[in-house]
Amino acid sequence: MTTPIIQFIDVFKTYQSGSQPVTALEAVNLSLNAGDFATIMGPSGGGKTTLLNLLAGLDLPDRGQIILNGRKVSDFSDHELTLLRRKEIGIVFQFFNLMPTLTVMENIELPLLLAHSSRTDEKHINVLLEYVGLLHRSDSFPAELSGGEMQRVAIARALVHQPSILLADEPTGNLDSDNGLKILDLMKQASTDFGTTVIMVTHNPQVAKFGNCHYEIRDGKLTNKIP
Ligand SMILES: Nc1ncnc2c1ncn2[C@@H]1O[C@H](COP(=O)(O)OP(=O)(O)OP(=O)(O)O)[C@@H](O)[C@H]1O
Ligand SMILES: [Mg+2]
Repeated sequence: MTTPIIQFIDVFKTYQSGSQPVTALEAVNLSLNAGDFATIMGPSGGGKTTLLNLLAGLDLPDRGQIILNGRKVSDFSDHELTLLRRKEIGIVFQFFNLMPTLTVMENIELPLLLAHSSRTDEKHINVLLEYVGLLHRSDSFPAELSGGEMQRVAIARALVHQPSILLADEPTGNLDSDNGLKILDLMKQASTDFGTTVIMVTHNPQVAKFGNCHYEIRDGKLTNKIP
């Protein structure tokens, strides 16, 4: 049996909002294998972003275990958590989050520079630019690109470390359906080409069809949906 790349075991997360505790995740169990493309749907405030934040090591659960590639995240040192965030996990946001003063090429290169990686060679970035169909725009600035192009830059940036996990929070929420389809195709391709495990949050049932396993999260409770 293969070890799941991601496991949540009875995970709870509560935030304090003023004097009121807000339960964001309650008894969440999840198991995903390498190359899975999981979709997460559910109402606003249901806990979707909280789940992604815990997965990215940006926040810790109050109770329960998160196990990545067979290792408990709670056993990671601060240094290992930093490496996890920088190298093992790529994130694509709804609003692209590109640096406006850097070119397309420099935006993609940025995570490598931050991680002091030796792989800052132009060839590696060019391969990624070609992968997302933007080789001809490498010297453009984000403001000169369409929304779909900006999101493709964001995907190239998220893939620059060849992460084992790609997290996407409403990646097509700000795109028309043609551009949205291109983004979904690219993420699907990453999961098949590189064995990247993709977890995508979406409000759109059509978009969710791109996944091979489907979840809903409501009032912090995660349920597996049969497609
Ligand atoms: N930092 C925080 N402090 C207090 N409460 C928080 C915090 N972050 C999230 N919450 C609360 O936790 C619950 C889950 O929030 P979360 O952001 O995970 O929802 P979501 O499913 O991503 O919603 P949306 O679809 O609107 O993005 C909500 O009730 C939210 O108000
Ligand atoms: Mg959210």
